[in-house]
Amino acid sequence: MTWTMRGLRKMSLMLCAAAMAANAYAQQPVDVRLTVTAEAAGPRIEPAVYGQFAEHLGAGIYGGLWVGPDSDIPNTRGWRNDVVGALRHIKVPVVRWPGGCFADDYYWRDGIGDPDQRPVRLNRWWGGVSENNRVGTHEFMDLVEQLGSDVFVSGNMGSMTPRDMSQWLEYMTAEGKSTLTDERRRNGRDKPWKVKYFGLGNEMWGCGGNMRPEYQADLHNQYATFLSGSVLRVASGDGTQNDHLIEILMERSRKHMDALTLHQYTIPGGWESKGQATGFDAERWAKTLDAAMSIEQRIKAISAIMDKHDPDKRIALYVDEWGAWHDPEPGTNPGFLYQQNTLRDALLAALSFNAFHRHTDRVKMTSIAQMVNVLQAMVLTDGSRMLLTPTYHVFDLYQPFMGATPLKTAIQTPKWRQGDVELPAVDITAARAADGTVHLALVNLDPARPARVTTNLKTGKPVQGQILTAAAMDAHNTFEQPRELVPATYTAQAGASGLALELPPKSIVVVEVPAP
Ligand code: AHR
Repeated sequence: MTWTMRGLRKMSLMLCAAAMAANAYAQQPVDVRLTVTAEAAGPRIEPAVYGQFAEHLGAGIYGGLWVGPDSDIPNTRGWRNDVVGALRHIKVPVVRWPGGCFADDYYWRDGIGDPDQRPVRLNRWWGGVSENNRVGTHEFMDLVEQLGSDVFVSGNMGSMTPRDMSQWLEYMTAEGKSTLTDERRRNGRDKPWKVKYFGLGNEMWGCGGNMRPEYQADLHNQYATFLSGSVLRVASGDGTQNDHLIEILMERSRKHMDALTLHQYTIPGGWESKGQATGFDAERWAKTLDAAMSIEQRIKAISAIMDKHDPDKRIALYVDEWGAWHDPEPGTNPGFLYQQNTLRDALLAALSFNAFHRHTDRVKMTSIAQMVNVLQAMVLTDGSRMLLTPTYHVFDLYQPFMGATPLKTAIQTPKWRQGDVELPAVDITAARAADGTVHLALVNLDPARPARVTTNLKTGKPVQGQILTAAAMDAHNTFEQPRELVPATYTAQAGASGLALELPPKSIVVVEVPAP
């Protein structure tokens, strides 16, 4: 075929017209219909669903949260004032500590007494770096007191004896006089601390000791027997889609537990090649959100097994590790799991919360991995500098859902397709707070098309809210531009038939509808 100049010009005009038409199509909003009822969809959303996880990993503790009392970085007894202040703002309900994999290699006595005399260990899981134990039990408890959070201690069942475990709990929580409580007092703490949650190991199928479910169940029962007090006993559960593990734990250990756990990470490209935290394409965007939404399938599958053994739903499911796991930022220690955090991560967090809200009968606590500088963090630090990530802003926007009652809703939403992934255009959650206010959160997953959501909510006047969105899928904050992606004010229109919301592509909108 021979191309003439005229032919080429004509062809390029046609292509231009087609591109403009496609672009105009992309700008057309899709129509979504949402009906919100007054009926509760389940028990209240426990505030603990908005929990956090802080492991001795990379700069998750040292540098990110803890700089020591002698640091030039402003701190309170060693904990950074800027980071603690930011976390106080989002009312962190619970902090899980000290791991993760680190927990099953942690001996609590290493972290008490004179800081200068504490042993130095190698952190075998995370880069083999020296762990000087400057942050131990007393320091961690100080952090949670500064934050106003509940305590989730992840106990070592992989390499510590049941006697050591029960003595740690006695040291922390016992009132009466004993050699251990005297030691705690000598170390500066008179009153016992309240430990609300106590984990019996972490990922026992892997870094917790590579155990068979049957062996773990026996061990769990043995260790749990010696845990006294009112602590909630948390069995280490699934992380590999292992139904058999849940069956065995529920069958053999349910009398000795108050909750079991699920770890589910969103790893866009799989373990071998996870993919970059920034600079991804629309296909990766879609795959990531699809993978994030699949957490709901896992929650349903685990709940179905739990229902067989525990129809009264006494035992809770704690999703105590979730979030995005990307490739580490180039130039950082791969063992430190330091990654950027973009608008995509923000949507992932919002979609996860929406899913948790749909399963409040079982999901009573979660902790995102992790709080600072590790994986899908709230805060990133660089020396004395700090930035708040898009994920932090989602925790902030969703604050009104803590303690609210989820409402039954019906949504008619078109799907959108990217490659071989098909997803709903819009995902939502609705809940009623104690004062009758209805809180709505809406996520437009489509990176290209806006959505117009009409609802049955009669308000008579526009309602206010906040929006998190950006032009780029990988919009993020940097130490140079820490406010590149922050929430903005949003107004939803009253509409003739009910509240109407315009959602830009790739956005999260949270609005508050006053009680009638
Ligand atoms: O969060 C990082 C690690 O992921 C945790 O230590 C472990 O429990 C999980 O595999």
